[in-house]
Amino acid sequence: MNLKKIGLLLSDEDDWPVAFEQLHRRLAPRLDYHGGTLSTDVERIRIHPFNLAAPTTYDLVIDRLAYWHVHPREWLKKAALVNGVYLINNPFTFQSMEKHSAYCAMIRLGLPIPDTWLIPTKQGPDTDKFRRTASRYHDWFDLPGIARQISYPLYMKPFDGGGWRGVSRVGNEWELMAAYDASGQTMMHLQRGLENFDIFVRALAIGPQVNVFHYDPTRPMHDRYQVSRDFLSAEHMAEATAVVKIINAFFRWEFNSCESILKDGVLQPIDFANACPDVAIISLHHYFPWAIKSLLAWSLFCLATDRRMRLDMNTDAYFAIADSERSYPEKLAAYSALADAYFDTERFQEFRATQLRHLDEVTWEYAQAQEFDDMLVHNVRLTFPAHEQEQFIAHFRGLVGLWVQAEGR
Ligand SMILES: Nc1ncnc2c1ncn2[C@@H]1O[C@H](COP(=O)(O)OP(=O)(O)O)[C@@H](O)[C@H]1O
Ligand SMILES: [Mg+2]
Repeated sequence: MNLKKIGLLLSDEDDWPVAFEQLHRRLAPRLDYHGGTLSTDVERIRIHPFNLAAPTTYDLVIDRLAYWHVHPREWLKKAALVNGVYLINNPFTFQSMEKHSAYCAMIRLGLPIPDTWLIPTKQGPDTDKFRRTASRYHDWFDLPGIARQISYPLYMKPFDGGGWRGVSRVGNEWELMAAYDASGQTMMHLQRGLENFDIFVRALAIGPQVNVFHYDPTRPMHDRYQVSRDFLSAEHMAEATAVVKIINAFFRWEFNSCESILKDGVLQPIDFANACPDVAIISLHHYFPWAIKSLLAWSLFCLATDRRMRLDMNTDAYFAIADSERSYPEKLAAYSALADAYFDTERFQEFRATQLRHLDEVTWEYAQAQEFDDMLVHNVRLTFPAHEQEQFIAHFRGLVGLWVQAEGR
């Protein structure tokens, strides 16, 4: 019997890893593998000094930590380069292609990214070398003039983004100068604000599995994902799905979320470099079981098919389509074909339908099990003050219950 090991690289979360481990135990996958059987183990990764040449026992790692914790980030790179471990996500493009590069690359592909400028930092490093360089080569610039050119309202946000850190809405020149003064050494984008829009959507994508949700960023964290269907036309739903799959295939990200705004009939992606996406039960609630089973399905597919992680990108193939005479929908279709080739979508769907045919049922039962409820209650108690806990336990039970009902039909 072959055995492969999935490692979870975690911080302080107590929800999705518990659900992932419990669902994995219930499914107890036995996968066809080179004429034999493959079974899998799940283990939480420990952090300690490592020899750069050391072997590892992990075959695949799901990373929810390295976006802020630098030591495990470098361990991941060693695991990929030295040991050939499959990483969800590839840390190489995520580090080199942060939000700013992601905007640039998607502009190059012709996606309708809102008008965005990069502004030099308000404060440089506190060194004479910087002051001499700035006095020699930095041009004076007219920030209010740039803002007027983009037109208000604007969003000022860090070029490398993430977690709403340092994001501000700027409605006028006074707010612009205040936000710039407050930005200090953080390098900021100025982006045209899209308001009075038709709808805000957020997609979560795991391998080729994409789910597009109605998202309300003005609500508190636990209430942003809306339980609703048919909030987009079939065409816009297909476009939103294709866009996130294309972005992910382009960057080799396999676990990512993408925010887009539909305004005046144009679907404009605004934030799509989230290669360590939020999968908390408190925010995903109704959709949480879907996320966990999709993550498990993709991990098992990668292991059973010996999928190799590609460290490099395939930008030229995308740019050739960008430079062709095709219309925007034709380009999206051509990019989608590249994305499906990258994700091996057809083979994945076949694997999901045959080897993982019990996964839906096992997840459905798991979402109704005592251990799922224990995990839910524990996480609500961690998140909300005592006087709100009972109310929120009932609230989240209700949202998961709705999912169970909808899936049970
Ligand atoms: N161009 C924009 N138009 C309208 N709202 C925006 C725009 N940019 C950001 N926002 C709002 O600010 C939030 C945070 O910005 P975002 O780019 O998603 O940063 P982060 O990477 O920190 O999540 C978004 O979810 C959205 O509500
Ligand atoms: Mg965002």
